[in-house]
Amino acid sequence: MTGRNETTVSEFLLLGLPIKSEHQNLFYALFLAMYVTTTLGNLLILVLICLDPHLHTPMYLFLSNLSFSDLCFSSVTMPKLLQNMQSQDPSIPYAGCLTQMYFFLFFADLEDFLLVAMAYDHYVAICFPLHYTAIMGPRLCLFLVVLPWILTTFHAMLHTLLMARLHFCEDNVIPHFFCDSSALLKLSCSDTRVNELVIFFVGGLIIVIPFLLIIMSYARIVSSILKVPSAKGICKAFSTCGSHLTVVSLFYGTIIGLYLCPSANNSAVKETVMSMMYTVVAPMLNPFIYSLRNRDMKGALRRVFCKKKNAFSL
Ligand SMILES: *[C@@H]1O[C@H](CO)[C@@H](O)[C@H](O)[C@H]1NC(C)=O
Repeated sequence: MTGRNETTVSEFLLLGLPIKSEHQNLFYALFLAMYVTTTLGNLLILVLICLDPHLHTPMYLFLSNLSFSDLCFSSVTMPKLLQNMQSQDPSIPYAGCLTQMYFFLFFADLEDFLLVAMAYDHYVAICFPLHYTAIMGPRLCLFLVVLPWILTTFHAMLHTLLMARLHFCEDNVIPHFFCDSSALLKLSCSDTRVNELVIFFVGGLIIVIPFLLIIMSYARIVSSILKVPSAKGICKAFSTCGSHLTVVSLFYGTIIGLYLCPSANNSAVKETVMSMMYTVVAPMLNPFIYSLRNRDMKGALRRVFCKKKNAFSL
């Protein structure tokens, strides 16, 4: 580290996706379509929940927070990726890279914590249906939304400040499509042991504790259904939890696949495809998972648009 000619890096080069140049346009169109779908789908959910007073329940307020988080999460990486694919200039300034890393961590964590809040909400709805409104009052809802914002601010800040401490020498090529913290660590020419320890312990806690809390909520839900097994109860549980369970599996499935099962040939291609799954595909699917089979959302869609039509005809 010492004695080396420390030319500090002022910008990084994002190599982007391992795509052949003749397929570049095809993938550009594909990712653009995915990003537009993500944006419109999540915006629609936000607008519907905001406009329709029937959906001002804790479950839908959490869902609108999740949609907001999805929208921001994909906006952290996608516009830059699309711009890079089109301009052939893959550079990103040092400060831009750290900013992207900060917001990437921020919204990934936020999503993680919101999934816990939603699991708790489902747990209360199924196990204490009679006390639901008393338990999930506005105070608790606000707490369950504000706490994730505080925790995730500190967590993302911790990683970003630790990263800002490091020196980067000649090598500034990131073999990824966004400023991923582990890719940055590999480039650094400083001692990265502290960063790795913090990522391992704090990052592990941030992933494992919410996961355990979600599992606990579902264990309680399942045991309460098994105590009084009835077709109606099972149906209700499925209709309440089905979408949430799908989103949780998608989110944790890719994370576990990426970080906990590092195969021997953990190539850059596999890593990129897996990160595409949770940065691009998951935020795009969430609105569909939540609204396709959901009667409340369809009803809201009808109400909001019919009201609009009436307003126009007046
Ligand atoms: C998030 O949830 C809080 C508390 O339930 C709610 O007041 C707020 O409107 C929601 N925010 C968004 C963007 O939906």
